[in-house]
Amino acid sequence: MANFINKYSISSAAMITPNTIEQIKNRLDIIDVVGEFVKLKKRGSNYLGNCPFHNEKTPSFTVSPAKELYKCFGCGKSGNTITFVMEHEKVSYVDALRWLATRYNIEIEETQVSDQQKQQMQVADSLYVINNFAGKFFEDQLFNSEEGINIALSYLKERGFREEIIKKFQIGYNPQQRDALTKALLSNQFNRELLPRTGLVVVRNETDLQDNYRGRIIFPIHNNSGKIIGFGARVIGKAEKAPKYINTPENELYVKSKILYGSFFARMAIDKQDECLLVEGYTDVVSLHQAGIENVVASGGTSLTVDQLRLVKKYTNNLTIIYDGDSAGVKAALRGLDMALEEGLNVRLVLIPDNEDPDSYVNKVGKEAFQKFIKENKKDFIIFQLEVMLKDAGNDLNQKNILVNHVAETISKINKAEDFIKQQEYIKQCSALLKIDEGGLITLVNKLKRDKIAKDEKKQSTPNNHFNDYQEPPPPADEEINYLASQDEKHERNVLRVLLDYGLNEYKDSQTTIAEYIFKELQDFPFESPELESLLASYKIQYEAGLNPTTKTFLYHEDPKTRELVISITLFPYELSSNWDKLYEGKKITTIDNSIVDVTMSVNYYKLKKLKKMFDQNQADMEKASIDDQMLLIRIHKELKDIEREITKNLGTVIIK
Ligand code: UTP
Ligand code: MN
Repeated sequence: MANFINKYSISSAAMITPNTIEQIKNRLDIIDVVGEFVKLKKRGSNYLGNCPFHNEKTPSFTVSPAKELYKCFGCGKSGNTITFVMEHEKVSYVDALRWLATRYNIEIEETQVSDQQKQQMQVADSLYVINNFAGKFFEDQLFNSEEGINIALSYLKERGFREEIIKKFQIGYNPQQRDALTKALLSNQFNRELLPRTGLVVVRNETDLQDNYRGRIIFPIHNNSGKIIGFGARVIGKAEKAPKYINTPENELYVKSKILYGSFFARMAIDKQDECLLVEGYTDVVSLHQAGIENVVASGGTSLTVDQLRLVKKYTNNLTIIYDGDSAGVKAALRGLDMALEEGLNVRLVLIPDNEDPDSYVNKVGKEAFQKFIKENKKDFIIFQLEVMLKDAGNDLNQKNILVNHVAETISKINKAEDFIKQQEYIKQCSALLKIDEGGLITLVNKLKRDKIAKDEKKQSTPNNHFNDYQEPPPPADEEINYLASQDEKHERNVLRVLLDYGLNEYKDSQTTIAEYIFKELQDFPFESPELESLLASYKIQYEAGLNPTTKTFLYHEDPKTRELVISITLFPYELSSNWDKLYEGKKITTIDNSIVDVTMSVNYYKLKKLKKMFDQNQADMEKASIDDQMLLIRIHKELKDIEREITKNLGTVIIK
């Protein structure tokens, strides 16, 4: 697979023709493809195996050859052959298609892309080629030139790096001479105009090109398929006048906010160990690898970006940040972390003691002691932050007050429905540490969540307090429902996902199908997103024409936008059903039960969300209404409340505790 991606990813922006996709589609055999990665046993008309997406001992991963779908009843992952390849191999849609085409010996036809796209791709291609050439040049200099051996290689060895690890990470050396690399590049006919964009070469006095990383050790930075997208260039020895590292400027390939150094070498280990270690520097990554700790990437010392966190999240939910005790790095790290909570990552933090960094520390104590230290000292990020701040606050009541608010704020950012338990746990631990009443902290967290929702909604509707006089106190289970109801488009998407997945099944024991149930329920609650509405309409047309549409039908839709939409809907289901087991406690769950619960819940959440909008509208109308109209609006408000209560009752048992 790795080689395969290497070979193709340059041109992955090109469009595969519908004809080729049609051919691939005709040849797909889900049992064959999934069977390559999962041991499957036949059970009735389906196949069963251990889920490759989560750890399990009893198989709950079901593959249906007839529907060409898979679904895990343990973790909920589901999809079709293409999404399986995407998820399992962590590749894009296009790369999954290419993979399948190769597997079935189908020749790929590609359509022409626009001139501008072509040009961009050509630039990116050329930068890859230049970087690749330079990388080889630097390696050659390090190992085969007198200067490289005497100055750079000896320095690396002195620091404890062995040759095999230097070679693995393709570390190199740029000689001191002012244009050693530039000359080599020019004599190999590389485009003169393009060279400065790589950062390898700089222009002096308008036309004169010279090397940018003279006399420096070079750490190539790879993308996830192992191609070089940039470099970090370190001075040898202490940095006195010049900066310690010079890095590649942002260009078509190098987008710093999306890069984690070492991810190419670490991804397998991260996946396997279900944990990603994050350090600051290039040398930390290399040293830990050398010690046999391979699930490690580096952020480059800046605070984490959402894109970097998502990169981690592709492989694991467990992020362990290992920084040295110096406060600058820690502060930088802490800055990104509220985002990590919003992404649903479990973040832990360890500080390396005594002015060491991970590189020097692992060299000093060795692999086992290092791992033991991490294991014993890693602290949950929220707890860590709280302890640090508690120490600072001392006995100052005012400080402590600020601190309580801060902690509540952080906890309120854990907002995924499935992280509800986690949030409760934090509230318990933090209130104990703060020596405050647990109930008080819960109230505060809930208030902050409510404020945030209100703030978000204010953006969409006219502010108005007038109507609040008439409002009843909210029903008890409101927090969670408010949150879920605020999740706008997600609900529309989820209803669509359920429709595509289960539409043709029977609804409960009645005579209707799930599709018909959904059509009926949505009658008074139209979608707001035009693209989702049009997908729904197109499903309805096909359904009513007796064409039995499924996810698959749309996956191969001629319009690429529709295809992408369907994939994003099926690939990232918004699971409302994580509490099925509570609802069905003690009862046996069958497939159809799941889908029915799923449908009912999705539709009800969706309606709840729409109701919230209607309330807002109602309030806005009230502002302008005459006294008579106000009476009418109040009646409408009451009716809406009744509907809400009914829905809430249906849902209440399922979601809360
Ligand atoms: P460090 O100063 O901790 O460097 O910066 P290091 O990686 O541990 O290197 P050694 O062990 O001293 O040789 C951490 C990271 O911050 C970025 C680099 O990515 C570096 O690896 N950095 C640091 C820069 O980009 N520029 C600098 O001037 C310094
Ligand atoms: Mn270091």
